[in-house]
Amino acid sequence: MRTPIIAGNWKLNKTVPEAVELCRQLEALLDGAVDREVVVCPSFTALSAVQALGLVTVKHGAQNMAAYESGAYTGEVSAAMLRDVGCQYVILGHSERRELFGETDEAVNTKARLALRSDIKPIICVGETLEQRRSGETEDVVLGQLTRDFDGIDVEDAARIVVAYEPIWAIGTGETASGEDANTVISAIRRKLAVLYDADTAASIRIQYGGSVKPNNIREFMEYPDIDGALVGGASLRADDFVGIVQCS
Ligand code: 13P
Repeated sequence: MRTPIIAGNWKLNKTVPEAVELCRQLEALLDGAVDREVVVCPSFTALSAVQALGLVTVKHGAQNMAAYESGAYTGEVSAAMLRDVGCQYVILGHSERRELFGETDEAVNTKARLALRSDIKPIICVGETLEQRRSGETEDVVLGQLTRDFDGIDVEDAARIVVAYEPIWAIGTGETASGEDANTVISAIRRKLAVLYDADTAASIRIQYGGSVKPNNIREFMEYPDIDGALVGGASLRADDFVGIVQCS
C-alpha cells in the first residue's frame, strides 16, 4: 500500500520567522490526524529553524541540492548538510531549475544518488511544456526524463524515490491538467517503472501530480488510484489552503 504524500514547494518565499510561523500553524491544524505524509520544502535558510521546532506531523525537505559531496563548489549545499538539518526529502529536477538554471537529467540523476546515499528521499519532477503537449510528445518527453533520471539506480533505492508529474503549462497558471489527463501520464510513468524495474517496485513508487493544485481540485486527482498525492506550489504558502488540500486529499 502506498501512503499518499502531499508536499509543499515554497520556492523563493518565506523568511525564517515566516517559515516557523507557517510550520507551527500547519502542525496545530493537522494535529497528528492524517493518514497522508505531509512535507514542506522551505528555503535552505529556514531548514534549521524548522528542524528545531521538532514537528511530529509535518516533515521537511529541501528544494535542491549539490551534485557534489563536498569541496570547492561555492554556493552549493550538500546532501549531508541537508541531512544535518533534518531533511527527509529533496525536490530534484523541478522544471524551474531545468528551465532557468540549466539543470540536466544527468545532474538530477547524480543528485538523486547522492541524496539516497545520505538517506534523503528524492522527489523527482518530470513534465512537458505546452508546445510538447500540443505536438503529442508528452509521454516521450516525460518517460525520457524518467529513464535518464533513474539511470543506474538500483531497485531498493528506486522504491524510495517519489516522482512528481508536473506539466509545465499548469505550474502557477491556475490551469490544471484534468484528473484524467494527469492519470493517463501517471499510469504511463508507472508502466515505464515496471519496465525499468519490476511490477512490484513500480507498484510501490509514489507518483504525485503538481500544477495549480488547490483545496477545491485535489479530489479530482486523488480519485485516481495511480495518483498518490500532490506537489503544491502557491497553495502551500497559506496554512488553511495547504491543510485544506491535505484534508480533501
Ligand atoms: P503551483 O501549485 O503554484 O502551480 O506550483 C506547482 C509547483 O511547481 C510545485 O512544485
